[in-house]
Formats: sequence, C-alpha cells, structure tokens
Amino acid sequence: PDARRLRVAIDGPAGAGKGTVARGLSERLGYLLLDTGALYRTVALASARAGIAWEDVEAIGALARRLADEGRIALPGVSGAAARHVDHMQILLDGEDVSFAIRTPEMSLGASRVSAVPAVREALLAMQRQAGSEGGVVLEGRDIGTVVFPDAEVKFFLTAPAEIRARRRFDELAGRGVDVSFEETLADVIQRDKADSERAVAPLRQAADALVVDSAGRAPEAIVDEMARVVELRARAG
Ligand code: DC
Repeated sequence: PDARRLRVAIDGPAGAGKGTVARGLSERLGYLLLDTGALYRTVALASARAGIAWEDVEAIGALARRLADEGRIALPGVSGAAARHVDHMQILLDGEDVSFAIRTPEMSLGASRVSAVPAVREALLAMQRQAGSEGGVVLEGRDIGTVVFPDAEVKFFLTAPAEIRARRRFDELAGRGVDVSFEETLADVIQRDKADSERAVAPLRQAADALVVDSAGRAPEAIVDEMARVVELRARAG
C-alpha cells in the first residue's frame, strides 16, 4: 500500500501516553489523527448537559444515536472536505468547540461510564470507520485494533504501570490548574482500568497481532521514532 495511507491503531489504558505519542506519530508521518476517546467524552458531556444520570443507559444510548444520526458531533480535522492536519484534535458538539470542556476528571469518568453502553459504542462505530476509511490515519483508543479496524495495517498497544500513568495524568491535570490529589488520580486510573477491561462490550485488551510498547521511563520522541520505523517498514513491505 501507499506509505501515506496505512491505518495505524494505538490502543492502551488511560495515561499510557497514547495522546502525546499518537499526535507525534501523526505529525511525523503526515497522517490525520483521530482520538476516539474524545467521541466518548463528547457523548458524556452531552449526557451531563441533558441532565441524564450515568445509570440511565437507555437515555444515554438514545442520545448517542441521535447525536450520530443527526451529525451533531463533528471532527473538522479528520472528516469531510475540511480534512487537514491539526496539532490537537478538535471536536465540535452542536457546532461548539468542546475540545477542552471534555478534558476534565468528571468527563473521564463519564466517558468510561457511557463507553460501557452497547448502543453508544454502536453509534460511534460508523463515525470512526468513516474517519479512518481513506487510510493515512493514526487512530487512538481502546478497541481500534480489535473492533473498529481489526484489519488495520499496523497495531500498537501502548502501556505502562498504573503509578506511572497516574503520575502523568496528575501532572497534566495539575498543569491545567485542575484541583485533584495524586491519590485521587491513581484511584481514578485504577477504577477506569478495571471498568474498561471488564466491560462486556469491546473491553480493553490487546489485539493478538499488536506490538506491545511499554512507555515507562521513555521519552515520547523515542517511542514515536520506534513506531514510525515500524510503520515505514510495514508500508515498504506492501
Ligand atoms: O482515552 P480517553 O481517556 O480520552 O478515553 C475516555 C474513556 O473512553 C475511557 O475510559 C474508555 C473510553 N474509550 C473507549 O471505550 N473506547 C475507545 N476507543 C476510546 C475510549
């Protein structure tokens, strides 16, 4: 295949550094970037704004279906005629840029909750496949290599021990002025790992053909270098 048109899946648990690495890799390769967690976060935000309780899976599923069917979630950087490369993935809900509103601890937990609802996963599946259909894209998430694109040309599973992932998440949140403690962040990470791995639909697990990369103690650039080499080799192998 054309070196510029592969589909690269990066799956792994919260805080493994997927965001930074996926962004760096997409820049390096000149690929589009799709952060699929942002879709789940946006459904969580829309649910919270609609006053729906996390327990009300019926209402959450119905809302996700409406958001998808009515095209109310837009990815200006990855879809349609406006496709272009952006340094962070922009996401719009009813035309409003919610890229930052979805990055709070509440929406992390909310996303974890709504992502366990089968109707939500179903509603977001078509959007993800559409965004990746042309290839030349780095998709970051939990189930890209197992469910969204089981036939992706390159699959990575990026991981690190929970304490290291929690430390990263904490530094990131503290840097943005979010008032949380490290202990709370670690508890959140462990709780989310458990929920994401144990849910019945599309649980977090590595694809059999994924290359496992441990990010502990490694600079993101070194990981991007390694991944870019793998993608280029794969592209040349055809
Ligand atoms: O990667 P993130 O922290 O933005 O993801 C938020 C939540 O969304 C995470 O707890 C699990 C869920 N998610 C998912 O179930 N499947 C994906 N492909 C991406 C995210």
